[in-house]
Amino acid sequence: MALSKQEKPDLVEHLINYTPKNPQGNELLYGESRLIISAGSETTATALTFIFMQLATHPAIMRAVRQEYREREATYHCQRPLPLLDAVIHESLRLWPSLFFLGQRVTPTDGLQIGSRFIPGNTIVQIQPFVMNRDPRNFASPDDFIPERWTTRPELVINREAFLPFSTGPYDCVGKRLAYMEMRSVIAKVVGEFDVCLPEEFQEEVYWGSVKDHVTAAAPPNQEVMFCKPGTLGSADP
Ligand code: HEM
Repeated sequence: MALSKQEKPDLVEHLINYTPKNPQGNELLYGESRLIISAGSETTATALTFIFMQLATHPAIMRAVRQEYREREATYHCQRPLPLLDAVIHESLRLWPSLFFLGQRVTPTDGLQIGSRFIPGNTIVQIQPFVMNRDPRNFASPDDFIPERWTTRPELVINREAFLPFSTGPYDCVGKRLAYMEMRSVIAKVVGEFDVCLPEEFQEEVYWGSVKDHVTAAAPPNQEVMFCKPGTLGSADP
C-alpha cells in the first residue's frame, strides 16, 4: 500500500507500518480500521442525539445552557469546560451512555479481589455503565435528569467512581478529550442560536423505550428533534 509522505504520521500510517504485510495482517488492519471509525463517530453521534433530546424535553435547562454560553461567547473555547454545559453532557451520558456495556476483560491468573468479592483468575468480566448509572447506591434519584448533581448538588452523586462512560484504566477511550471538545462545540453553537424542540406528536416514553443496544446505543429512527429560531415555537426566550 503506497502512503503519501506527510510531515507528521497519522494514525493510519502507524497502523499500516506496524501490521504484518500478509493476509492475516490485512484482516487485522481492516478490523482495526472499522473499529476506529465507529469508535470515533457512532459514540459521539449517539451522545449528541441523546443530549439534544434531553435539552428538548428540559427547555429551562436548554435556555440556561444558552445563557451560560452567550455570557462567555467572546472568550469561549471548546477545550475549556462550561460548568452547566459539561454537567448536561455528564448527566446525559449517565442516563444514556453511548456504550451500555464496556468491552470484556479477563482477570489476572491469580484472581482479583474487588472490595469483599474475590473473582477467580482467567474469568471474563464486564462493566455495564447503563446498570451502574441507574443504581440508587451510586446516584440519588438515578432515573431523573438532574445536571445540577454535577455542579451545585453533589450530594446526588453517591459514588463518583461508578461514572465510567469512557471506561477506565489503560484501555479507556483515547478520544475522550476530543469527544468533549466536539460535544461542547456543537451543543454550545446550536443552542446559542436555536431552540431545540419536539414535534407535537412526540412521546418521550416511547422514544426512550425504543433505544436499542447495537454495541453502541442506537437512537430510535424517524424521531428527531427540530431546531428553530428562539421564540418561533412559543419560547419566551429571545
Ligand atoms: C461521546 C463520545 C465517546 C464515548 C462515550 C466513548 C466511549 C468509549 C469507551 C467506553 C471505550 C472503551 C471500550 C472498552 O471498554 O473497551 C472507548 C474506546 C475507544 N474510543 Fe471512544 N468514546 C467516544 C468518542 C471517541 C472518539 C471521538 C474517538 C476518536 C476520535 C474514540 C476512539 C476510541 C478508541 C480508538 C477506543 C479504543 C477501542 C479499543 O481499543 O478497543 N472515542 N470509547
